[in-house]
Amino acid sequence: MILQRRNRILRQSSAIRSLVAETILTPNDFIVPLFIVEGENVTDPIASMPGYYRYSLDNTVKEVKHLWLLGLKCVLLFVKCNNELKNHYGTEALNADGLMQRSIKAIKNAVPDMLIMTDVALDPFNSDGHDGVVENGEIVNDITVDILAKMSVSHAQAGANFVAPSDMMDGRIAAIRKALEENNFTKTGIMAYSAKYASCFYGPFRDALDSAPGFGDKKTYQMDYCNRTEAVKEAMMDADEGADIIMVKPALSYLDIIREVKNAVDLPVSAYNISGEYAMIKAAAKMGWIDENKAILETLTSIKRSGADMIATYFAKDVVKLISQ
Ligand code: PBG
Repeated sequence: MILQRRNRILRQSSAIRSLVAETILTPNDFIVPLFIVEGENVTDPIASMPGYYRYSLDNTVKEVKHLWLLGLKCVLLFVKCNNELKNHYGTEALNADGLMQRSIKAIKNAVPDMLIMTDVALDPFNSDGHDGVVENGEIVNDITVDILAKMSVSHAQAGANFVAPSDMMDGRIAAIRKALEENNFTKTGIMAYSAKYASCFYGPFRDALDSAPGFGDKKTYQMDYCNRTEAVKEAMMDADEGADIIMVKPALSYLDIIREVKNAVDLPVSAYNISGEYAMIKAAAKMGWIDENKAILETLTSIKRSGADMIATYFAKDVVKLISQ
């Protein structure tokens, strides 16, 4: 055959392939989610997330030092609130001496340059297990937004670099930005979970934090996975309201959404490679059905290739080890 172009020329060796590779993972791409519990010297395995743990604050600080040495520079904090502290308004979320606020301070103190992002939503603190306040069986938007704004200020006060509202209430980005401004937190960023879908893949996370909805589901606030245009609308509104980073979540069943949102907004886009996505790879690897390391690299590369500038993932430590080899 006489061909004008042979595409296989650029695939013939590992050196050529790496020369023309369009997507390269680096440690700078990753955000490490951490689950923090009360107590001392606790390293509590999460059954549905093999290899991932809930740590008490002392062990969290050790872990954060270790992450920094691996080149991971950003953590996303979640706390597990003790049952007796939960109520309808999630008031523990605003406690200046609450586990989240203490954790932010302790991590900042131990590793000052580590970027700290904090989850802003009521579900771990709310006795109804919803991201917002429940009244008469409904999740009430405006009362919730008011609490989320106060919660954000409380995290900023403790030293958070970014607050990350994951609740999907309407108007919360504008309210949080206004509250931060009014309290003179002019350096605190907002990573908005703008396109967060009602997903079955959050299951293991809800085990980790004991935060499953007490009744019903989250479909009146999280997005319907049938929709794409709506994600662009949400992202553009959050950008207008003052978000610094726009997030799409989950990641793997939503790669089209990541690309669409990346094309629509002129802001960094993050994607959350969530708990169920982690669990699926772990389970298949355990069965010997896929190669875990290869699956980690391929899926994280696909998320970056789809348009994510950064990825929150439970595989962060694994992947930095893999890419440094
Ligand atoms: C809740 C929240 C959830 C996750 C992050 N923040 C779960 C939910 O919406 O029920 C999921 C993360 C994961 O599954 O890894 N505000």
